[in-house]
Amino acid sequence: MAKVRAYTNIALIKYWGKSDLNWNLPTSSSIGLTLDRFYTDTSVEIDQFSKKDFFQLNGQQIEGPKISKIINFIRNSCGNKNFVKVISENHVPTSAGLASSASAFAALTKAANQAFGLELDNRELSKIARIGSGSASRSIFGGFSIWHKGQNKDDSFAESILDPVDFDIRVIDILADKRVKKISSSQGMQLAQTSPNYDSWLKKNDRQIDEMLKAISDHDLEKIGLIAETNSASMHELNRTAKVPFDYFTENTREIIAEVDQLYKKGILAFATVDAGPNVKVITNSEYQEKIINVLKEYGEILVQKPGRGVANV
Ligand code: PMV
Repeated sequence: MAKVRAYTNIALIKYWGKSDLNWNLPTSSSIGLTLDRFYTDTSVEIDQFSKKDFFQLNGQQIEGPKISKIINFIRNSCGNKNFVKVISENHVPTSAGLASSASAFAALTKAANQAFGLELDNRELSKIARIGSGSASRSIFGGFSIWHKGQNKDDSFAESILDPVDFDIRVIDILADKRVKKISSSQGMQLAQTSPNYDSWLKKNDRQIDEMLKAISDHDLEKIGLIAETNSASMHELNRTAKVPFDYFTENTREIIAEVDQLYKKGILAFATVDAGPNVKVITNSEYQEKIINVLKEYGEILVQKPGRGVANV
């Protein structure tokens, strides 16, 4: 039996659109930072006597068509027809835009790979994790990673940019809203791709990838934050200009972003980014974290995260 832990990652340059729904190929490359507080533990065990797969998440048996997709892919690639028992515990507030799918599919992929006796490297694992959830390709790695969009299912993979992270960076989660999101990331992307601004957004994303890589290699927290903040704002602007407009933001989201803007104007390094849900994450460092928490704690539970590790056995 193989048991693996994987952590969530936050997108600094967002993946927001698919060029292939079946293989989860993205329309653009993306950059993430794997964090250290939210994670998924998954074990995969081959059951020679079973006639079907068994999946359990947080103590409940589930169907999991995407889990099947990954297990079937691995089963086919090694020619082993045995069924498996998958037990998963998610230590993430699920579906509130906190990317539980990223840690879930990264952990599943590595655990299944080991259970079937494959010895794939992290790049190969990232291609398989991607089939379950695009952002999971980045959670294979610790620290900063990039998911190259590629041209086809074999060259769309993630790789490490910097791990361990050797400078001071923190991400503050404000859990203002733990409700289940109404629009899944896949639905959101499909709608966003109908925006008349989508092509210019893609071009801007390409430029921001290069700028972000430079900012990371320069250890320039302010640049990292500014680019991530602009990138996030334009992703959410796309949603508002889709043919059927929609918005993940709530009143809390807008108020918190306004507070973060004010903090930055006062000379505090604080930058807001939001994924496919209402919750804001603030990029900062240890020097400023307390000042930011003091202002934002009235909005909800606060969690401070540091850069985290890539997938590993537990
Ligand atoms: O990989 P998914 O389907 O969970 O989509 C992730 C979408 C964003 O979190 C908004 C962006 C990203 O790159 O993680």
